[in-house]
Amino acid sequence: MGKTVNTLAEFEMEAVRFSSLLSPSEKGATLVTLSGELGAGKTTFTQTAARALGVEETVTSPTFVLEKIYLLPEGKPFKRLVHIDAYRLEQGSDLASLGFDELMRDPTNLIFLEWPEKVVDALPSPTIQIILTVESEDSRTISILYG
Ligand SMILES: Nc1ncnc2c1ncn2[C@@H]1O[C@H](COP(=O)(O)OP(=O)(O)OP(=O)(O)O)[C@@H](O)[C@H]1O
Ligand SMILES: [Mg+2]
Repeated sequence: MGKTVNTLAEFEMEAVRFSSLLSPSEKGATLVTLSGELGAGKTTFTQTAARALGVEETVTSPTFVLEKIYLLPEGKPFKRLVHIDAYRLEQGSDLASLGFDELMRDPTNLIFLEWPEKVVDALPSPTIQIILTVESEDSRTISILYG
């Protein structure tokens, strides 16, 4: 299942296409989780989606800062793109220190979360799950589940 791409450029095209299909829900933030081994492309996918949504500043990996919040240009369906890397978190309750519950309540937030497995006990459903599988150095399979 999923779509296999053979180059980084094709992978980025998928991220652009994905970001163009997102629309806010009335119930709260839109949560997109990104799973896959180290180097699968979770950050690259988020960076590409961020650029497509109008983020002009450089989107860096939040490995050390855990969370970064980018403002989206006026007129876009979402106001903020929140990028979280849960790799260094130990349990779901650690998300609280990032203000996660409050971020989740705002329908104008689009949240991309890497390493959801680390905090799975604290994640609400439904979420949009992106699962990246490394096929070879430049090839990836992208599976997207709309929960
Ligand atoms: N087809 C491809 N799709 C995605 N990334 C690719 C592809 N081909 C090569 N790459 C490279 O793989 C690397 C993916 O790194 P990235 O930091 O996005 O992974 P990550 O899943 O966020 O890892 P981590 O778990 O360490 O956060 C990048 O250096 C990217 O250029
Ligand atoms: Mg990453």
